Amino acid sequence: MKIQEETIQQSYSNALKRKKYNSESSCCAPQTQSQSCCPPSTTSGLNEPVSFGCIYLKPILMDYIEQGMTVIDLGSGAGHDLMIAAELVGPNGKAIGVDFTDDMIREARENAQKNNHSNVTLVKANIRDIPLPDNSADVIISNCVINLALDKKQVFNEVFRLLKPGGIMIDADVIATKPLRREIRENSSLWCGCVGGALTKDEHKEILNKIGFTNISVKLGEKEEVQFEAPELIVESGIILAINPMSERMKYSCCNLTSKEVENLANPELPDELGIRILKTVGHPLRLKILRLLLNQQELCTCDLTSVFEEQQPIITKQLARLKEENLIIGRKITFSKEGLMESKLNGKWTAYRINPDKHEFLTHLLSPFISSPQKRAENRCDC
Ligand SMILES: C[S@@+](CC[C@H](N)C(=O)[O-])C[C@H]1O[C@@H](n2cnc3c(N)ncnc32)[C@H](O)[C@@H]1O
Repeated sequence: MKIQEETIQQSYSNALKRKKYNSESSCCAPQTQSQSCCPPSTTSGLNEPVSFGCIYLKPILMDYIEQGMTVIDLGSGAGHDLMIAAELVGPNGKAIGVDFTDDMIREARENAQKNNHSNVTLVKANIRDIPLPDNSADVIISNCVINLALDKKQVFNEVFRLLKPGGIMIDADVIATKPLRREIRENSSLWCGCVGGALTKDEHKEILNKIGFTNISVKLGEKEEVQFEAPELIVESGIILAINPMSERMKYSCCNLTSKEVENLANPELPDELGIRILKTVGHPLRLKILRLLLNQQELCTCDLTSVFEEQQPIITKQLARLKEENLIIGRKITFSKEGLMESKLNGKWTAYRINPDKHEFLTHLLSPFISSPQKRAENRCDC
């Protein structure tokens, strides 16, 4: 038997009437009252709507929802979680409930009025095709609804489309401990009772991964045996969290660039790893001073540097070695003539260093903010 969406709508219309007027505790369809997936309503406050959810979501929502955010509740029912979201986003935020059952929409609207939540909007729509613009939500919540959807991939695609980059989906739902057999999937009462349409943890992860969500986690809650018709069947309630990544959605953002295009902004002649290594080499107090001095003085020997910086020779030699390793400076062996002038000698005792001519322009540019004006440099120049 094929599951019909009209049957789901009818069963929730009936469930609302039963719950409201008979104050029964089960959330689900008429046939599944005693084997329902869902806990008794968490209703406590005077104006708190009845809950048809499978998990009490308030503590989790408090962790993720902030003032001013836009939150969409998929399958908002009588508005239990929607009212919590409305309170958390405050007067500058928006809480939008989406449901395809007329009675639920009406009930949630009344509940918003009773609670004076003017930031609540209700949209009557199927959650596989929601008439709201891309990137409209900071957080999308849902409680015991997506298991009821006939095309879950399409619903999760909608979630991805509606979430802003970095936005999070908080989906409390019924999770099957193993893939469900066909006769269970095709049993209308089991489907409307939040069992027949349940996906496993792995099925959730696979779908969400394929769509492009990141940070996917499925945390399982309480196990519950569903006894009739399928004695071996076990379902659990669980929370599925997933984030719409920033990079994937850059193409929709204000700068209109894809992540590939952002990569293309890099200079192909200076790969990032090399650039980062050079910046790390330069970004050291003593090495920066040595480079600045060499840019000014053309060539200096280790002995000069040791005396200028008043450091011990091994310390200077170590920093020079690092600069040489990155090809920023080059050295030649020297001795000193009687007049004290540097002379190249392969077995010379000293090494004289200068900026690698290939890197001179690059280093002048890179270090220009750290170098005094040419006039000041000329004043300080040593012609010895
Ligand atoms: C088990 S109730 C949960 C209601 C609510 N989230 C709560 O926690 O009280 C399921 C709700 O999802 C709605 N629903 C089921 N499938 C839907 C669909 N494809 N599109 C929109 N709403 C749907 C039903 O009308 C019903 O209000």
